[in-house]
Amino acid sequence: MEIRLEKFCKSFGPVKVIEDLDLTIGDCEMIALLGPSGCGKTTTLYAVCGIHRVTSGRIWFGDKDVTALPPQEKNVGVVFQSFALYPHLSVYENIAFPLRIRKDSRADIERKVNEMAGVLHMEELLDRRPGQLSGGQQQRVALARALVRRPEVLLMDEPLANLDAGLRLEMRSEIRRIQRESGCTSILVTHDQVEAMSMCDRIALMNEGKIQQIGSPDDMYHRPENKFIAGFIGNPPISFADGKVEDGCFVTEGLRIELPDRIKGAAVSAGQNISVGVRPEYLRPDFATPIEGEITFIETQGREVLYDLTLAGGQVFRSIQSGEQVCGVGDRIRWGIDADSVFFFGEDGNRI
Ligand SMILES: Nc1ncnc2c1ncn2[C@@H]1O[C@H](COP(=O)(O)OP(=O)(O)OP(=O)(O)O)[C@@H](O)[C@H]1O
Ligand SMILES: [Mg+2]
Repeated sequence: MEIRLEKFCKSFGPVKVIEDLDLTIGDCEMIALLGPSGCGKTTTLYAVCGIHRVTSGRIWFGDKDVTALPPQEKNVGVVFQSFALYPHLSVYENIAFPLRIRKDSRADIERKVNEMAGVLHMEELLDRRPGQLSGGQQQRVALARALVRRPEVLLMDEPLANLDAGLRLEMRSEIRRIQRESGCTSILVTHDQVEAMSMCDRIALMNEGKIQQIGSPDDMYHRPENKFIAGFIGNPPISFADGKVEDGCFVTEGLRIELPDRIKGAAVSAGQNISVGVRPEYLRPDFATPIEGEITFIETQGREVLYDLTLAGGQVFRSIQSGEQVCGVGDRIRWGIDADSVFFFGEDGNRI
């Protein structure tokens, strides 16, 4: 079932949190709402769920207008940022709750709860109360409760935030598997770009109540529309440097990159201020466009080494290279940039 937000606005008193947000989530699609803290992700999810009254705009499930419909009248599974488990019920009863409301048979309930408990590794916790569980265990109960009735729409707010690294990796693929199998349309709220990239079909990147760009993980990484997106997606992050246009090149002290023809011809003029964005994997000793400076910081990560290269003008570029460390802090080096893979941005921050 397709979910559509149309000119969705939400204010709390005089404060506008979301303004004119349009978003369509395709049938069976899983989309991530990604963005920094406070940008309005939870607010948007609550509106889709029906917990918040929207200030203006419409929300559609398929061709049904659900703008004013409360959560209990929709087949929606929700995992809240704060779990919201029933403290007086056992784990078993927490998971069974949506099925009891729906009046499933006792045998069905038992089978489905046990199945979910198996998937989420909680068989031995079923008799406990939420207060007797760790944060990560509570989070899994919340997930199980949302998934157990195979909802048409699955809404998740930071569902993996409290899990350790290993469990998080496993749950990522479990959630994705269950979502694909049940074909539910899903929204995943997260501020973790790796989670968004690895789990979702598309990402909607939000900032200050607005969607900056919607696209596939590859679009977001390789075709960011502006500096905010390029800077938010990618870890270790992209490096930016300011410069000027000179003889068809981007120029800053210690670096000169020939602009691609499509930019040279039309988009910029001589003397204009522009900036360049270089992802760390496109700066290495063997790339063609020379870059000179001093190594000012090195971080060894095992499989890869991170280097900070500071140019004479003070601009800092980051490089990531696999293998062992190839130089030391304080060394002056001449490496290269893959000029075909860098981004240029105008003064307004939009990619040229
Ligand atoms: N009930 C409320 N009353 C007033 N302001 C609110 C209310 N709920 C949220 N806000 C404000 O709306 C903005 C968006 O909040 P929201 O919870 O949607 O952010 P978020 O993107 O989910 O952030 P986080 O990643 O920290 O969870 C914030 O500035 C927040 O302070
Ligand atoms: Mg939130």
